[in-house]
Amino acid sequence: MFSKIKPFSHAALKPYSEKVTTAGLAVTHIRNGDHVFLGTGCATPCALLHELETMLAPPVDLELLHFLVVKAFATDAHGQSLTRFRHRTFFVGADLRLAVGEGRVEYVPMSIARVPEMMARGRIPVDVALIQVSLPDAFGYVSLGVSVDIIPAALAAARLVIAEVNPRMPRTMGDTTVHISRIHHLVPVDNAITELDREPAQEENVQRIARYIARIIDDGSTLQVGLGYVPHEALQYLTDRKDLGLHCDVITDAILPLLAHGCITGACKTTHPFKIVTSMALGSQRLYDLINLNPLFDFQPMDAVCDPVTIAAQHKMVSIAQAYSIDLTGQVCVDQFDGKFYSGMGAQGEFLHGASRSPGGKPIICLTSTSADGKTSRIRASLVAGEVSTIARTDVHYVVTEHGIAYLFGKSIRERATALIELAHPQFRPELFAQAQAMGYLPAAQTLQNMHAYPVEDELTVTLKDGRQVMLRPALSSDAQGIRDLFHHLSEADVYTRFFHHVRGLSDAEVQRLCNVNYENEVAFVAIDGPREDAQIVGQACYFVNPSDNLADTAYMVHPDWQGQGLGSALQKCIAEHAAKRGVRGFVADVLPGNTRMLRLAQKSPHAVRAERNSDCVHVTQLF
Ligand SMILES: CC(C)(COP(=O)(O)OP(=O)(O)OC[C@H]1O[C@@H](n2cnc3c(N)ncnc32)[C@H](O)[C@@H]1OP(=O)(O)O)[C@@H](O)C(=O)NCCC(=O)NCCS
Repeated sequence: MFSKIKPFSHAALKPYSEKVTTAGLAVTHIRNGDHVFLGTGCATPCALLHELETMLAPPVDLELLHFLVVKAFATDAHGQSLTRFRHRTFFVGADLRLAVGEGRVEYVPMSIARVPEMMARGRIPVDVALIQVSLPDAFGYVSLGVSVDIIPAALAAARLVIAEVNPRMPRTMGDTTVHISRIHHLVPVDNAITELDREPAQEENVQRIARYIARIIDDGSTLQVGLGYVPHEALQYLTDRKDLGLHCDVITDAILPLLAHGCITGACKTTHPFKIVTSMALGSQRLYDLINLNPLFDFQPMDAVCDPVTIAAQHKMVSIAQAYSIDLTGQVCVDQFDGKFYSGMGAQGEFLHGASRSPGGKPIICLTSTSADGKTSRIRASLVAGEVSTIARTDVHYVVTEHGIAYLFGKSIRERATALIELAHPQFRPELFAQAQAMGYLPAAQTLQNMHAYPVEDELTVTLKDGRQVMLRPALSSDAQGIRDLFHHLSEADVYTRFFHHVRGLSDAEVQRLCNVNYENEVAFVAIDGPREDAQIVGQACYFVNPSDNLADTAYMVHPDWQGQGLGSALQKCIAEHAAKRGVRGFVADVLPGNTRMLRLAQKSPHAVRAERNSDCVHVTQLF
């Protein structure tokens, strides 16, 4: 990589010739014991770093300080960085993992958004800043280019600033300029800006998670996508959305298809409307060409972009973070896996907090339900040794795995454990369920019925006669409280027609029967009004197959405020299609003779319907 670095002389640097030097000479100004900040990401000054690493007599007791360096160090045969210095880093990339494990590189677990403040106070000392910038303009201003992030704070704190000046560094717009008077030594280089090529993830489980995430993102949302590969995959499923906005710490090539489809207008953003606000770009030359001199992109320092007040002010702020594990109470670990440090906090905490406060905002945690080899569940009864809670359970809202979507905020431990077990891989559900019961998270009487992945393809949205829309979806055992609430809204007469006797309430076992089903010979659907974080169950339908005749008993309930609008008919159609697809022969129901609505509902079936009156009720059969 370093062979590509060619010293050059450029006309734009002529007025500053007294500052122009070589990388080799520039690094001789670094003193023993200095704390040396390295520019971030794809703007890491590789030529200066290379000189420092290969100096014959380097300064002693140096500490290199960085947020996230990309392809900056020479590596060994295993891809691990080779460095002679001590480091302090806010992010553990794959190339530094071994060095972190061996204690040569120290990981600092803190929000990157707070680092500028710590640098300003001297609590994170910076003596020297090594950065990479664009050529100066006619007024003597260079651009920080693809990485603004925490560099302004490092420049303000440093005694000595050395910059590689690269004509290929894009001039980005926003708060990205630095006057050349603030730079002590200019080192001309002419090398391609480091590209971060991300192979699209092929795994079906990752694609499923990405599709689930996309389902909960509305038109007009403002997005922040964390650095993990799963959140980035979600963006490809948003190409049918309108007026999305971006307010994020980092942009990558994943935004390019959305821009190409015209989905990102920023029209609904509360601050910086019609602008993409970011602090750094990690991507390909295509992205760098796009951001060069492009006023659509507003680059700002990390602490400004990640200010929770600004994030919270955004319209429908969606923050998507990738986690390594989550326990059954909702504690999330994002920077450690199997006892090793992975990645870092970034500013994820600020974005999740901000999104939770934003009007219509959605903080989303996503993770694959198992480790890559499928041997370990990432949903755990408790976080294990070597993992800590980096996101508190009090702050967790949406959790998405390839087995579905759960909403945890404001939910009890029992509701969380129930919902998260349903998001675990079926292979691990019985063990998690037993552990949850042993820990007292779930009552001993609760059972685990559903051993299938959540069938998202069975979700559908229907429009009722009065124009209201509801979502019909398979019921989950975590719907228990919602179903109980629905029951208590029914009139006494409705309760009687549904249960054939006067019932005052539903026991745990009774309510579980209506949602905790096995999806083999027992199936239940619910009708949902409102977004998932504020959902109300307004209807429920279920069928139970009798193996002796392959006919299924059915039952329905619809909230009184929603009756007569076609919801019962929609639920009947939905479960009938579901059953017919699975080879069930037909539906049977015993209906009280006075229940005209239910009799009318049954008659509306497109299938052959037979109604037989006996002494107490009408026995209705529909054959598919
Ligand atoms: C039966 C029930 C599920 C129907 O739900 P719904 O959402 O009202 O059903 P729909 O709006 O699709 O209406 C179904 C048919 O009943 C008719 N209907 C609705 N309300 C009616 C009423 N008060 N009187 C007579 N017919 C009525 C509708 O007009 C419709 O027929 P149409 O499409 O030909 O006009 C609902 O009324 C309910 O929950 N009842 C209490 C519980 C119950 O009895 N469950 C069934 C026992 S298993």
